[in-house]
Amino acid sequence: MEELQLMKQAVQALMSGMPQALRDPHRPAWHLAPSVGLLNDPNGFIQHNGVYHLFYQWNPLGCDHRNKCWGHWQSTDLVNWQHQPVALVPGACYDSHGCYSGSAVVADGKIMLAYTGNVKYPDGSRTAYQCLAQENAQGGYDKLGPVLPLPPGYSGHVRDPKVWHHQDQWYMVLGARDLQDCGKVLLLRSADLRNWQLLGEIAGSQLNGIGDFGYMWECPDLCTLDDAEVLICCPQGLAAQAERYLNVYQAGYLTGKLDYQQARFEHGAFHELDLGFEFYAPQTTLAEDGRRLLVGWMGVPEQDEDCHPTLQYGWIHTLTCPRELSLHNGKLYQQPARELQRLRDEGRQWQDIANNAPAWPIDSAELLLTPTGAFRADFGGAMTLAWDGNLLRLTRNNLRSGQPEHRYWRGTLNQLQLLFDRSSVEIFINHGEAVMSARYFPGPQPLLHLSGEAPLALQHWSLTPCMLE
Ligand code: FRU
Repeated sequence: MEELQLMKQAVQALMSGMPQALRDPHRPAWHLAPSVGLLNDPNGFIQHNGVYHLFYQWNPLGCDHRNKCWGHWQSTDLVNWQHQPVALVPGACYDSHGCYSGSAVVADGKIMLAYTGNVKYPDGSRTAYQCLAQENAQGGYDKLGPVLPLPPGYSGHVRDPKVWHHQDQWYMVLGARDLQDCGKVLLLRSADLRNWQLLGEIAGSQLNGIGDFGYMWECPDLCTLDDAEVLICCPQGLAAQAERYLNVYQAGYLTGKLDYQQARFEHGAFHELDLGFEFYAPQTTLAEDGRRLLVGWMGVPEQDEDCHPTLQYGWIHTLTCPRELSLHNGKLYQQPARELQRLRDEGRQWQDIANNAPAWPIDSAELLLTPTGAFRADFGGAMTLAWDGNLLRLTRNNLRSGQPEHRYWRGTLNQLQLLFDRSSVEIFINHGEAVMSARYFPGPQPLLHLSGEAPLALQHWSLTPCMLE
């Protein structure tokens, strides 16, 4: 579809669809969600002149994965967000089937977007161009066209440029599927963002001793934490194990040392970034105060998306809350961005045997739990979290089959921080050692019920709704 045509239809979709979307009791009170239609990956996360910009994959016309535009929100505090002009709309010959994921950098004082132009052909094949777009005076973005066609040796699945600056050069990582159906991450270099040289594959299936590791890697992101490099990536095609890789596609990270000259990345084992039901395609940015922040998509491609109850209200998916990253003994920790504490009301504290606990409202709430032994928490009858002293188990009924499904974490549990927002929960374990993010769809005014023989300390805050402007 032509760009202008798509925008006209998007305006209509918003005008006729927003009242219905706003009536949905499962719409988040303080997480980012699409006004109408489908949201997936966060894109172009950056802070520039004190302002955070967060773009997102957005289909304004429906709840399926077509017509991918870049929506755009901005914020000065990571809590209050304002809509901005739609940044990218597909329709040029090089992005006819979607302005796919990518990143933002500041070059010559302006925000520059690097994204993938996805092009599909009638025979079902596809190609991809890595493209640029530059901020204009109206707060919109002007497309500058492709800067990189498909590199030889790869399928049409080469996408999701993440660009950063390092020692006077620009670097890019791309997710790719090679001609042998191995997922890879490519490293490229440029002096001017326009001319890119492929330096090589820095990670992937059959590379660096990782063995067979999926047919496609999406949404890579490379960042430095302390003195290590962390490569975030989303492998597709990993076989599920008893307690790992249970989602349709995975999002995880590798830590190691990147040799920029040799394009070699020596890294350790792959770890999942989030052990919940919904988490994918996260992106990081370096805030001006030095923090490394991460936002993810609280969804997974092709994972029962057609069963979400929000479809009846004409929208689907949310982003995660913004998180602060740090590295401890090679392990990536994630904690909710400290700004989110501003959403807390005055709060309540409680301590006793879990069985004696009152019920706690969790429509929009934060809880800190310090257990001393086994316990079980029921979230509005729609999800449970159980700790038996070794295993933490999150359970809900599958949206399609109605049968119970589980996600797991093992370790020594000291503390849990739970962030609830209408139809989602993000569970931070031991101050961010692990996270479980999930959507769930409770009835109105859900309550958290605790049970167990062991004493437990708890803090509860209601979180103030904080809608988009
Ligand atoms: C990940 C992804 C990306 C792609 C985008 C398209 O969810 O498949 O690889 O760029 O979504 O919306």
